[in-house]
Amino acid sequence: MKPVKVGVLGLGTVGGGTVNVLKRNAEEIARRAGREILVSRASARHLTQQRICDTQGMSLTVDPFEIVNDPDIDVVVELIGGYDLAKQLVLTAIANGKHVVTANKALIALHGNEIFAAASKKGVMVMFEAAVAGGIPIIKAIREGLSGNRIKWLAGIINGTGNFILTEMRDKGRDFADVLAEAQALGYAEADPTFDVEGIDAGHKLTILASIAFGIPLRFDKVFTEGITQITRADVEYAEELGYRIKHLGVARNTEQGVELRVHPTLIPKRRLIANVDGVMNAVLVCGDAVGPTLYYGAGAGAEPTASAVVADLVDVVRAMTSDPENRVPHLAFQANAIVDTPVLSADDIKTAYYLRLTAEDKPGVLADVSRILAAHQISIEALIQKEPLAGESSVPIIMLTQQTLEKEMNAAIAEIETLATVTGKVARIRLETLG
Ligand code: HSE
Repeated sequence: MKPVKVGVLGLGTVGGGTVNVLKRNAEEIARRAGREILVSRASARHLTQQRICDTQGMSLTVDPFEIVNDPDIDVVVELIGGYDLAKQLVLTAIANGKHVVTANKALIALHGNEIFAAASKKGVMVMFEAAVAGGIPIIKAIREGLSGNRIKWLAGIINGTGNFILTEMRDKGRDFADVLAEAQALGYAEADPTFDVEGIDAGHKLTILASIAFGIPLRFDKVFTEGITQITRADVEYAEELGYRIKHLGVARNTEQGVELRVHPTLIPKRRLIANVDGVMNAVLVCGDAVGPTLYYGAGAGAEPTASAVVADLVDVVRAMTSDPENRVPHLAFQANAIVDTPVLSADDIKTAYYLRLTAEDKPGVLADVSRILAAHQISIEALIQKEPLAGESSVPIIMLTQQTLEKEMNAAIAEIETLATVTGKVARIRLETLG
């Protein structure tokens, strides 16, 4: 049988890794796919640049449109990232009847609804395993492995850069900026690293996970995101003292009131496996009604881990190429006509527990005032630490854990606590999930 001809758009870290894995494991991959998979064309911004892969036997171009318009190409692998150009290329490839594999989480999270509709109309596949959690086959696990379940919730460490920063801050007491610079040098961080530290990248990935878990459209515009830039070493240490770790978590929960979609720093019990996922590693915890909690762990970024997911998608495409489009696994796990636009809850209506840290004068009645305000908002205190004042200081840090409450009640309580004359500055608040 003739080889399947692939055109790769972008020969950077992931593109180079994909070419290398396809070449190195060509025989094993062909045994699985049933046909040889050959990268016959690739596009890159600069043709003479040094690369991590060998481009011998490939026709190179600086114009990616040459590839998506080439009748000889069966599958386009989009690895250039970004929104506009990537969208144009993918839609052109689809219009030309080509299957697409992409690692572009931003593209899928923002334009996936339109792209999948176009692909279904043309009877082609758009695969995106590499878009979420790099090498972890989480899309496949949720879309196929858990398809007997009603997924109740999922929670993931889905940004390696953020996890690396929090781990280094905790273990080595390093500064935020210093660790971020190292993540950039290692090639983990996004082109715009604010996407990593402000939770945008994790928000893109959470959008995709929630959609395939709950059968809802991709709704990136509804994701609540909070970054890790305000996390202090003191918070990391107090959390440890209370038996928790701080992780930048993406959480999606299917509740009776609607779907929660949120990315924020989160205290999680140290005893949970996911609390021990460190460095650039990713992990996703998925809870199905039949299976219970399941955990998926692995490298969330990097050339070959991401290539592993891209190549797995290529194998799936080759296996299903000749099948009737109606009988393929649906793009978003649920049949397109069975996707339900369940409302996504606003940040105010999120329900979670909290860690609070405030600085207050060390005198009688202060704690009573704070707990009176919390009680008035039906917020129950779960644990409390008051530290001794430092020499020469009259203020003390007070750290509290609360039971679950609505975010709007917590916002109102914090605003009132901050008006107390005995409380200095802002109240630090970090959400807490037991993930039980
Ligand atoms: N910037 C991302 C991360 C790369 O740090 O996880 C993988 O999507």
